Amino acid sequence: MAKVLVLFAHPRPDRSEVNYPMFETAKAVQGVTAVDLYARYPDFNIDVDAEQAQLTEHDVVIFQHPLYWYSAPSIMKEWQDLVLEYGFAYGQHGHALDDKVFLNAVTTGAKSAAYSEEGMNHADLRSLLAPFEKTADLCRMTYLAPFVLFGAGRAVEEGRLDVHRNAYDDLLKALVAERLDLKKAARADVLTEDLYEFILKGEPV
Ligand SMILES: Cc1cc2nc3c(=O)[nH]c(=O)nc-3n(C[C@H](O)[C@H](O)[C@H](O)COP(=O)(O)O)c2cc1C
Repeated sequence: MAKVLVLFAHPRPDRSEVNYPMFETAKAVQGVTAVDLYARYPDFNIDVDAEQAQLTEHDVVIFQHPLYWYSAPSIMKEWQDLVLEYGFAYGQHGHALDDKVFLNAVTTGAKSAAYSEEGMNHADLRSLLAPFEKTADLCRMTYLAPFVLFGAGRAVEEGRLDVHRNAYDDLLKALVAERLDLKKAARADVLTEDLYEFILKGEPV
């Protein structure tokens, strides 16, 4: 069984239609440690030693967040800047994160068509999340394609939230049970609700 750490960032969880409900889903999964970074550090006073110790205890690290300016809400950058220290996360003697799995569980305001060569952003989502992928690479982690809900602003009214929450539940349980095909998930452009081809056969998760 793998230990999964979900680091959740949303500056206004009271206004979150999608990410906060997803965070509630994550909290209920056995084997998942789900942390609300803004609640833990309202003054951005990040406890680096505690965060590093927590990372060390887990096998999978998920950044769960809405896409803000093609990136994550600011506390996630602060967390990276302080916690992923030289000599801990990277560098000749920094091997604490070697072979751990990393992914972004992200929601976007724009529809999927915007995240393509021909679309508004002229790039796919995984390419735009390059700073996360490159950070994971430098820390010798295995980077998986982002698990994404596009068009999140209309997910509730269009009845798409429950499907996505259920898929998130499946994804987390598959990671805990080590039943996600990591090689395939690492090669994909994005992971969406259709996870069937990524979950290895066996008992239902
Ligand atoms: C400050 C800010 C920046 C945003 N930047 C982007 C962006 O770069 N691309 C995008 O598709 N949506 C962007 N959005 C829309 C959010 O991603 C969207 O509102 C969010 O995923 C909805 O999730 P929630 O209901 O949990 O807040 C932005 C929203 C805010 C408030």
